[in-house]
Amino acid sequence: MQVFETIEALQNELAHIKDKSLGLVPTMGALHQGHLSLMKQSLKDNDHTIVSIFVNPTQFNDPKDLEKYPRTLEKDCKLIEELGVDYVFAPTVTEMYPEPDTRVFNYPPQDEVMEGKYRPGHFNGMCQIVSKLFAIVNPTRAYFGEKDYQQLIIVKRMVKELGLGIEIVGCPILREKDGLALSSRNSLLSAEERKNALDISGTLFDSVEYAKEHSLKETLGYVVNRINANTNLELQYFEIVDADTLLPVSDWSESASIIGCITVFSGTVRLIDNIKYKS
Ligand code: PAJ
Repeated sequence: MQVFETIEALQNELAHIKDKSLGLVPTMGALHQGHLSLMKQSLKDNDHTIVSIFVNPTQFNDPKDLEKYPRTLEKDCKLIEELGVDYVFAPTVTEMYPEPDTRVFNYPPQDEVMEGKYRPGHFNGMCQIVSKLFAIVNPTRAYFGEKDYQQLIIVKRMVKELGLGIEIVGCPILREKDGLALSSRNSLLSAEERKNALDISGTLFDSVEYAKEHSLKETLGYVVNRINANTNLELQYFEIVDADTLLPVSDWSESASIIGCITVFSGTVRLIDNIKYKS
């Protein structure tokens, strides 16, 4: 496996394989099995796979969050190498942003709701880095997790609007045996906070059963009340939305594909998850 830190060295290498299919898996490192599942899918679909590891400062709206984001590059490279990935791109901040990125991306309504509302500028920064990675690597396919469902939808839209011709592959959420969605941020949870966090996926799973016999509004209330009943958790939002527009729906019959998206704090750790009600 080759690890590149500069755009020039990476592009020199990629020039040799330009007739082959290439899968890109963008990550911010602190890798877990969720990330690895994206890589496994890319290895299946493509002749070559490249993983990028870059904690992108422009998508963090909270400097403290950026500072405490886990960084484990050496361990990450070992995990990736064992899988059989060909290339890692792990640039520095100045390599990716020799000058401030002044580009503005707007994808309403999808980038305005939920995470867009609570993390202003987050999706703009995400689009800045993902579009740069796409321009540098020019992959055949790129892999994104449904864990960050809103991100996946926005990347798909960006690729369409920019006419990039890259196939965006969405991959299912990988969970721990007990249901907790895998996340780099889980490593920041104390044992107690992790136990409380289990209530998030537990509530979402139970809400799918509940939804079979109840209205959408009742289901919304069920989730909100159950999370609020756990005084160790702090609900930021739970919304039941159309899976394409990401706008709230008020009745199960209103849309063919419906998803519930949630963000909850367990202690100071911000966790996101989602569940499909109709697809
Ligand atoms: P990061 O949080 O490192 O996630 C990298 C990719 O792994 C994302 O596509 C995310 O949805 C996926 N992923 C995370 N947890 C997962 C899980 N439990 N199951 C399946 N997939 C999972 O998302 C980012 O980084 C950044 O915003 C990035 C796209 C790299 C741009 O900086």
